[in-house]
Amino acid sequence: MTDVVLDGVGKVYPGGQHAVRDVRLRINDGELFVLLGPSGCGKSTILRMIAGLEETTSGELWLNGGVANDLSPRERNVAMVFQDGALYPHRTVAGNMMFPLEVAGDDRAQARERVAELSRALGLSPMADRLPATLSGGQRQRAAIGRALIREPSLFLMDEPLSSLDAGLRTELRLEIAGLVRSTGTTTVYVTHDQVEAMTMADRIAVLRDGVLEDVGTPEQIYRDPATVFVAAFLSTPPINLLQATAWAVQDQGVVLDFGAQRLTVPWNDPRSPALISHHGGPVIVGVRPDALTPVADVREGRTLVGRVRVLEFHGHDWLAYAEAGIPTIDPNTVGRPVPVPAEPGPASGGRLRGLLRRTSRARQPVPEEHEGHHRRSNLIFRSGTDRPARGEEILLDVDLDRLLLFAADGRRITSVRR
Ligand SMILES: Nc1ncnc2c1ncn2[C@@H]1O[C@H](COP(=O)(O)OP(=O)(O)OP(=O)(O)O)[C@@H](O)[C@H]1O
Ligand SMILES: [Mg+2]
Repeated sequence: MTDVVLDGVGKVYPGGQHAVRDVRLRINDGELFVLLGPSGCGKSTILRMIAGLEETTSGELWLNGGVANDLSPRERNVAMVFQDGALYPHRTVAGNMMFPLEVAGDDRAQARERVAELSRALGLSPMADRLPATLSGGQRQRAAIGRALIREPSLFLMDEPLSSLDAGLRTELRLEIAGLVRSTGTTTVYVTHDQVEAMTMADRIAVLRDGVLEDVGTPEQIYRDPATVFVAAFLSTPPINLLQATAWAVQDQGVVLDFGAQRLTVPWNDPRSPALISHHGGPVIVGVRPDALTPVADVREGRTLVGRVRVLEFHGHDWLAYAEAGIPTIDPNTVGRPVPVPAEPGPASGGRLRGLLRRTSRARQPVPEEHEGHHRRSNLIFRSGTDRPARGEEILLDVDLDRLLLFAADGRRITSVRR
């Protein structure tokens, strides 16, 4: 039984590098929790602070309802697997897995049995007597996972364990790892910069940017209703269309999203309209994933965009088209400074922590920074299904208005539709 709470955790490295800022999150017992974000956003730093390999500069780290900041790595009973899955080169696969049990002075016969059992679960039985140098990358990584799990840690930490493997092996192993940690019920924190890995494996995902937590939720929640433009863009393949608009409340229609050359209308009965009104006359960012656009024959007022096809990409199951639509688009990396998400509830036993969270979350009201983003004329990306449009052809695109993602100019979601 292990849950992990980060309560305002920050890390400044000795050189002054501010790697992690005021991160608040709760990882529940038995959860497969993924830390996701681009290189340098602080994922490994957070993992190492949880493991006790790196000190926290600020905030409290809770393990199992107790403050763990000053516990040694050993006292935390965590196991960690790194990218290269380093194994003892002169020990066999079984020998590597046996090692932690030997150190702990476990009964030899029982230890052997446990190694055999876990080898089977990891598909390593046929190579139990081989040395690491004779194994493939995937097999080595499996053995490293076996060695980490053999002592049944209360917390399992993995830092990009698949990043050195080829695509096919990654897909196979990510399924195996997810299955294995779920079957053991071990709370697991898994670090990756690969959004597909995160989406397919995680119970919940935390998205980080520049050391700041931008969003936390189930894969479905953060895909459907991302907290920021950055999160929407990071979790989108093919890339999301991010369009710059001005919002106008129009009495008989709804909120018109005016792109200059074109417009869409969010009807009054849309649950987001009330919040959109407060942006009347101001800039908003409209996110449209390519699969929310469907080529159609007729214009429907307020929900059709027009684009002229410039480039086509063949993706096997469909064509991806890039159309010129005369709409200013936004580069997600230029929008908004990272802003902390609201504090998550503390552990049930942590009355003091709850008080602290309330205090600090009040004291730390995020201050939005005005940011215009980079205006550039770009393409509207859509899937054209199996019909291949011609280059230069003008295409009408129906927009699934329920799936529009609406953000303020600072990059934050205008209202949540998250339940
Ligand atoms: N020992 C260190 N001393 C000083 N700065 C560090 C140290 N380790 C990491 N950093 C810096 O802290 C920031 C976060 O680093 P971290 O390794 O946590 O990122 P990451 O998200 O794991 O990136 P990657 O995906 O590339 O592994 C980076 O800017 C990095 O340069
Ligand atoms: Mg890292």
